[in-house]
Amino acid sequence: VATAARTQVAIIGGGPAGLLLSHILHRNGVDSIVLERQSRAHVLGRIRAGVLEAGTVALLREVGLGARMDREGHPHDGSAIAWEGRPRFFIDTQKFTGKRMMAYGQTAITEDLYAARDTAGGEVIDEADKVQLHALTARRPHVTYTKQGASRRIDCDYVAGCDGFHGVSRASIPASVLKTYEKSYPFGWLGVLSETPPYPDLCYCYHSRGFALASMRTPLLSRYYIQCELDARLEDWPDERFWQEFKARCPPEMAERIVTGPSIEKSIAPLRSFVAEPMQYGTLFLAGDAAHIVPPTGAKGLNLAVSDVFYLSRALIESCRSGKTHYLERYSDMALRRVWASARISWWLTMLLHRFPDETPFEERMRFDQFDYLRASEHAQASLAEQYVGLPFEA
Ligand code: APR
Ligand code: PHB
Repeated sequence: VATAARTQVAIIGGGPAGLLLSHILHRNGVDSIVLERQSRAHVLGRIRAGVLEAGTVALLREVGLGARMDREGHPHDGSAIAWEGRPRFFIDTQKFTGKRMMAYGQTAITEDLYAARDTAGGEVIDEADKVQLHALTARRPHVTYTKQGASRRIDCDYVAGCDGFHGVSRASIPASVLKTYEKSYPFGWLGVLSETPPYPDLCYCYHSRGFALASMRTPLLSRYYIQCELDARLEDWPDERFWQEFKARCPPEMAERIVTGPSIEKSIAPLRSFVAEPMQYGTLFLAGDAAHIVPPTGAKGLNLAVSDVFYLSRALIESCRSGKTHYLERYSDMALRRVWASARISWWLTMLLHRFPDETPFEERMRFDQFDYLRASEHAQASLAEQYVGLPFEA
């Protein structure tokens, strides 16, 4: 017989989405249990993106998670685009929206979230195996899993599926209910983390050799990426080759200022756009990568997880406190409006800034013109800045 527990919200996945949801629910008197498949060390060891929209920054502050971010994060007024053979361009979020962004790593946010859950005595069960969701369309769903070989069960009112793209939550929704949209891109990003002072601006580089990006984590920690082939292998990319290729893709005056050093992490990720609709099935609600994937261009992934959690926490708190389901019923539609907006801008930036292996000369010229128009038009700049800094949350 399984050991049973009871909570209001069973949260599947202890990444940023699941932990933030659990944290906000707790602050509002709603209890939850987080089930994470991996060990905590594994979750904290993952290197992911690190640019926060203005709304993400405001929300983290509002829920008591701003202290370290404000100490260690790097606020900035936008990002640069360096285009081979053309003058540099700046996406000026401060000028066009009055809002700033923040470079602060997802790894650090995850650390802050675990610390906050620990301080509050929150229950985050790691190394939870074989998580399964049951009776999702009944009034009382439940979740089963095994921990160190022993079966356990959690009875709950709601299940939050925050278990990422490969999780069990989305897979628990009947295929007939779910509509999915997908696009894969014919390249990946090779990323390097190095303990070197970063280039001062976050800078996206378009080059005929392929895309490159200079980003930062702290004054002594830099993050760099280059577009690579889908079948690229890490062993073919020693540090020296990476730096050489990176510098070849940025303007000479920028390349000169890049401080190189040994990498402390190196990884390859394919680029993909994916959206699943709806984000609800009975008492199950999806949030974050469990429901959608955006290509990293524009750094929308983590910010979307945060906006999903904003909408979902508001809905669950309302329901658990008052029994009203106004927001719960609208969760999927509301969250998806922002999801599609971010899906579009990350797709657009991906199409703009990368070399496509089989593109025609016409398509290439369209991209050049897109960039020239952006540089010439204040309206185009305002539009990009508004989307880059992040659209507001709906009331
Ligand atoms: N059972 C329990 N946990 C699971 C399961 C499962 N079957 N499958 C996956 N998980 C866990 C993963 O180990 C991971 O820790 O769910 C967590 C999901 O976390 P993320 O993949 O980080 O997704 P999310 O929390 O939605 O974070 C937002 O946006 O673009 C991205 O890089 C960004 O990871 C970030 C994400
Ligand atoms: C990052 O710092 O990892 C980063 C920054 C900007 C992006 C994507 C990733 O668009």
